[in-house]
Amino acid sequence: MAQHLVFHGTLIHSLSLDHLEVIENGLIVITADGIISSLVRSISKESVQQHLATLELSESQYDIHFLDRGQFLVPGFVDTHNHAPQWAQRGLGQSMHILDWLDKVTFPNEARFRNPEYARRIYASCVDGFLQQGITTASYYGSMHAEATKILGDLCLEKGQRAFVGKCNMNRNAPDYYRDATVESSLSETQDCIAHMRMIDPEGRLIKHVLTPRFAITCEDALLAGLGEIARSNPDLPIQTHFNEAEQEMSFTKTLFPTFDNEVDLYGHFGLLTKRSILAHCCYMSEYELGRLKDLDCGVAHCPISNMTVGGGFMAAPVREFLRRDIKVGLGTDSGGGFSSSILDAMRQALVASNAKEVMSQGKDKGLSIDEVFYLATLGGARVCCLDEKIGNLAIGKEFDALLIDSKSSKPGVMTMLEEQDNAKTVFDKFIMTGDDRNIKKVFVRGRQVKV
Ligand code: GUN
Ligand code: FE
Repeated sequence: MAQHLVFHGTLIHSLSLDHLEVIENGLIVITADGIISSLVRSISKESVQQHLATLELSESQYDIHFLDRGQFLVPGFVDTHNHAPQWAQRGLGQSMHILDWLDKVTFPNEARFRNPEYARRIYASCVDGFLQQGITTASYYGSMHAEATKILGDLCLEKGQRAFVGKCNMNRNAPDYYRDATVESSLSETQDCIAHMRMIDPEGRLIKHVLTPRFAITCEDALLAGLGEIARSNPDLPIQTHFNEAEQEMSFTKTLFPTFDNEVDLYGHFGLLTKRSILAHCCYMSEYELGRLKDLDCGVAHCPISNMTVGGGFMAAPVREFLRRDIKVGLGTDSGGGFSSSILDAMRQALVASNAKEVMSQGKDKGLSIDEVFYLATLGGARVCCLDEKIGNLAIGKEFDALLIDSKSSKPGVMTMLEEQDNAKTVFDKFIMTGDDRNIKKVFVRGRQVKV
C-alpha cells in the first residue's frame, strides 16, 4: 500500500502578506496522493504515534521524518517569470538596453532551439537547475518553436515540476531567422502546443500551456487578436507577457500602436488581460494603469534582478503600491535577463530594491521585510498563477509542494552558522538572507521528491 509522508518539527509558511506562521513541534501528514491531510500545530515527539493512530494510520502505513534543530519545512518557491531558452545565456549582456539585448544576445541564442536535440539538453539542465533551487512551480517562456516547447512540457512532467509552459509568439521586429512565419502559423503552432500539454496532463495537475505573446513589439495586431480569441475559448489557460518594462520598450510600443495611450488599454483591447494574466515587470505604472490592473485582477511578476541589470529600465516596480492596492504580486527570476536562477537571490534583491524605493518616495513606500519577500516567493506567486487553492503554503487540503531546509551545511561559509541562542525565526531569517541551494536538502512537488 502506498505510504503517507509524515514530518514532525518546525514548519514555516505565510498565511497572508503580514502573517508568517512559525510552527514549532508541528506535525504534517501527506497522503500517498500528495495532499496535506492533517496539520497539528503543537505536539510532542512522544505523542506523534498515538496521534497518527487516531487518524487510523498504523506504523506500516507511513514514512515518518523527525526534523532536527536547524531543519524546517517551507512551501516550495514559485517563479512567476522565467525564460527556459535563456538558461545557457544567464548573465550575458548585463546593462544593455532591452531591444539591443534582444537583438544581440537573446534572439541568436533562442534561435538554437529550432534543434530539438539542443532543446532537450538545455531544457533538461534548466528544469533540474530550477528544482535544485527549490522552484517547485515555474511559469516558463519557451522559444518560438513548437517542438522545443513540447519537449519542455514533457521534461517538466517527467521531472515532476509544476509548470506553465508557453510557446513564445513573435512575428515581427525580430530577425528573419527567428520569428513566426505568419500570424496563422504562430496561432496554429500555439494550438498544437495547447493540445500537447492537454494530452500529456489531461487534468492539468502539473502542466498547462500559457499563452505567451513575447510583447506587443514583436506581435502584429492580428496575432494579438488571435491569441485573445484563443484565451476567450480556453478560459482555464494562463497568459503571460512583458509589460511596461523599460522606457525604450514603452516608447517603441507607442509608435507601433498609436491609438493606445498605454499598455493596459493595448493588451486589454486584445482580450489578453484576465485574472490569469501574469505581467512581467510593471516598472512604470500610472494611477490609471494601477486601477485597471486591480479591476481586471491581473497578477504582477516582479523581477527585481533583471529590472536593475538588463532591459534598460534600471528601475524596480512599485511593489509596495501593488500590495497597498491588493494587486497580486509574485517574484520572477526572469532568468536569463536576471543573472540568477535562485529565487532566494530574487527575494534579497526585492528587499534591496524596495529600500531604494523607500528613499525615493521619501518614506512613503516602506521597504519590504524578510517575511514579505518570502510571501511573494510562495503564496503571493501562487495567487499570481491562480494556484493559491492548490499550493502556496502548508494548509490542510493543499498539495504538498515543499522544501526541507537544513541550516547545518557541511561546507563552511554557506549560511550564517547556527548558534545556541537561535530560535526558529532567526534560523529562517539566516536562511533567507544567506542560504543557498546547498541548504535545500529535499524538494517535493505534490508529495513526490523531485530534487536530483
Ligand atoms: N521583452 C521581450 N522579450 C524579453 C526577454 O526575453 N526578457 C526581458 N527581460 N524582456 C523582454
Ligand atoms: Fe522576461
